[in-house]
Amino acid sequence: MESLSVLVTGGAGFIGSYLVDALLERGHRVRVLDKLVSQVHGDRSPRYLNTEAEFIHGDVSDAEALGRALEGVEVVYHQAAEVGVGQSMYEIERYVRANTLGTAILLEAMASRRDHVRKLVVASSMSIYGEGAYSCPSCGSVFPQLRPEAQLLDRRWEVACPRCRKKEIFSPLTPVATSEDKPLFPTSVYAVTKQDQEQLCLIVGQAYSIPTVALRYFNVYGPRQALSNPYTGVCAIFSSRLLNDQRPIIFEDGEQTRDFVHVSDIVRANLLALETDAADYKAVNIGTGVATSVLQIARLLAEGLGKELEPELVSKYRQGDIRHCVADIARARALLGYEPKVTLERGIPELLDWVSRQTAADRVTEATKELEAHRLVR
Ligand code: UD1
Repeated sequence: MESLSVLVTGGAGFIGSYLVDALLERGHRVRVLDKLVSQVHGDRSPRYLNTEAEFIHGDVSDAEALGRALEGVEVVYHQAAEVGVGQSMYEIERYVRANTLGTAILLEAMASRRDHVRKLVVASSMSIYGEGAYSCPSCGSVFPQLRPEAQLLDRRWEVACPRCRKKEIFSPLTPVATSEDKPLFPTSVYAVTKQDQEQLCLIVGQAYSIPTVALRYFNVYGPRQALSNPYTGVCAIFSSRLLNDQRPIIFEDGEQTRDFVHVSDIVRANLLALETDAADYKAVNIGTGVATSVLQIARLLAEGLGKELEPELVSKYRQGDIRHCVADIARARALLGYEPKVTLERGIPELLDWVSRQTAADRVTEATKELEAHRLVR
């Protein structure tokens, strides 16, 4: 592929920075627009920032910075977002401003340069599904919404069939792979803004003939994840706890499952989205198709770090948390030729090799208190 001029918004972040490295390696010219959020980066820019990329310190909502960032650009990877699910529930305006309004401003600027832009790839999220897809022994395929509060207060964690429940039968469900066609039931402000980002990009892309792809990332892990940010994903949170000789705190009973995907697989999917037009104007899941429980993750991390710290099961739940969601990656395989390459057996040791060389402030206790004060952990 010829050398292209690429803008990565959020290019100093966990995923964005690896994408920048990979694009440079392939001979593209890369510019980063990033506002270096202090919750993620502390008070300095990250050491891993690639010096071969041009760096613009600024916000996607700042028209002046955005104008400079888009100058001469042929490809845009929109990775910039505020990413704390729990925090989004009480800092609503901040999340909507950064994610929804930020994307709107970016798209307006891109629409006026539409003749130059050959591709837009937006980072979407599995969070927009809410609960994953399930199968009921009597009803077949079902798409439940959040578990009822009364059930959670009773500490019954598994999802029951919504159709059987109407007949007052409690049928436990089997989680199945979630495809892109599952109805979307976002359960947090963050998830709503991710749905906004995806749909705004696809709709505006379509209207202005800017080939656009939305990649729905599942639970991404890997080195460079912000360990001191208590609102990132569970792998980073548990790693930071263990590094500080604290037991990981497990909500529910730890048997909830997610699809943990290594950051290098996410990066490869992004490159594939640029190289083919088969996924243009579509949303595509990027995960592994493998479900892993939160308890398994806690054990793998503790073992890998050589810490004899059993996780603490607090039997509480986070408001808006789903029980299970694992990706159906058939569309990614068919359209992008994507195949996940990094299993947890390989990815976790690599993560821990990096983690063990970091210092991380453990802010999980404070963050959990904050959520409890807002009755978002109960
Ligand atoms: C959410 C988003 C996802 C986003 C990710 C990281 C949803 C459905 N998904 O994923 O898009 O990429 O956050 O921002 O909103 N857990 C513990 N103890 C902890 C932390 C988490 O037990 O200290 C549990 C949670 O209760 C949950 C699971 O681990 O059951 C995964 O949590 P997390 O890593 O925050 O990710 P999601 O909520 O799946």
